[in-house]
Amino acid sequence: MSERRDTFRADSLLTPQAGIDDPFAAAVHATRMSMIIADAQAPDMPIVFANDAFLALSGYPRDEILGRNCRFLQGPDTDPEAARRLAQAVADGAPVNVDILNYSKDGKPFWNALQISPVHNAEGLLVYFIGSQIDVTARKNAENRLVQDREGLVSVATEQARAAEQAVAERTALLHEVDHRVKNNLQLISSLLVLQTRRTEDQQTRVALQSMLSRVSAIATVHRRLFQSRDLERFDVAAFVRDLVGDVSLSRDEVEVDLDLQSIEIAAAQAAPLALAVNELLDNALSHGLAEGRAGRLGVRVQRQNGHYVIEICDDGPGLPPCGRFAPGFGLTIVGLLAQQLRAELRFESVNPGVRAILELPVNA
Ligand SMILES: Nc1ncnc2c1ncn2[C@@H]1O[C@H](COP(=O)(O)OP(=O)(O)O)[C@@H](O)[C@H]1O
Ligand SMILES: [Mg+2]
Repeated sequence: MSERRDTFRADSLLTPQAGIDDPFAAAVHATRMSMIIADAQAPDMPIVFANDAFLALSGYPRDEILGRNCRFLQGPDTDPEAARRLAQAVADGAPVNVDILNYSKDGKPFWNALQISPVHNAEGLLVYFIGSQIDVTARKNAENRLVQDREGLVSVATEQARAAEQAVAERTALLHEVDHRVKNNLQLISSLLVLQTRRTEDQQTRVALQSMLSRVSAIATVHRRLFQSRDLERFDVAAFVRDLVGDVSLSRDEVEVDLDLQSIEIAAAQAAPLALAVNELLDNALSHGLAEGRAGRLGVRVQRQNGHYVIEICDDGPGLPPCGRFAPGFGLTIVGLLAQQLRAELRFESVNPGVRAILELPVNA
């Protein structure tokens, strides 16, 4: 034993006169850095030296430290993984740095930035472990607070995102419900009109009821288009016109249809009035211009032109009656009112043969 210690300076620390003639020993005694030395050869590696700084850090008197393995500093909340790393390094005779939760004599926990270095003698025999400890409780607490704050922030953000998702889901569900109800109600109105038309003998009343049915169906098409599109705020006029004229092509195959449709989008609030007006003009082209059975051409153009959306509906029929005999009926009366509401201009041109109805509404109406 004594032979081994001759080879290592730390021996001098272990004598009662340590420091008297050895400035390094004196320094180890006096430094504010807490230090211990454990005997690597003795069973369970007992502490054979502890400096004053270690006594101050741990709160134990020297006689309660010497002879014990330094694991006595561990306690209930010490991370078993940190303790395992430490034990493994010591078993391997390897150096190790580990932040470990230790407990002072009065039971108070402190964070110990522990560094352990193996010391070998001239023959390469592992004789000591030197351990130095720094109390890093303040830094650890700050780190933990930071982690907690971050976790807190993350959980607040997660909760907010979840709430937003739920709000969107609720809104979507409500929208689907509204869509469903409006569709059902429009369907109900259409059914009532069909039933009443069937029961009506008077030809004029039947025509009026059929016109109402066509108006309700135009509104239903607007509603379907708005709810089908991903954007509930915008309404694609060209797509609507294509739908409407598609129905005509099915029922009047003697009419040649010529479409020139530029995709234009208007605000959803304008959709129903515009759709109703277009429906009325189209109905006139078909019922007065291209009266039942008469072959002819129907032209529909949708375009953006000089800051206006221009919608033209053109037939090659007999044209409008001469001024003196022309009297707007219910159809053109409501087109006039709808045009006013849309701040649009409505005019008719004779195209010989036929009529071109033109609806021009300002882009930023
Ligand atoms: N494209 C058209 N070709 C010929 N006449 C038309 C045309 N559009 C409208 N008219 C005339 O204008 C009148 C008024 O139309 P409108 O107000 O829609 O009432 P209705 O269609 O019920 O007769 C029609 O009766 C018809 O004489
Ligand atoms: Mg009409």
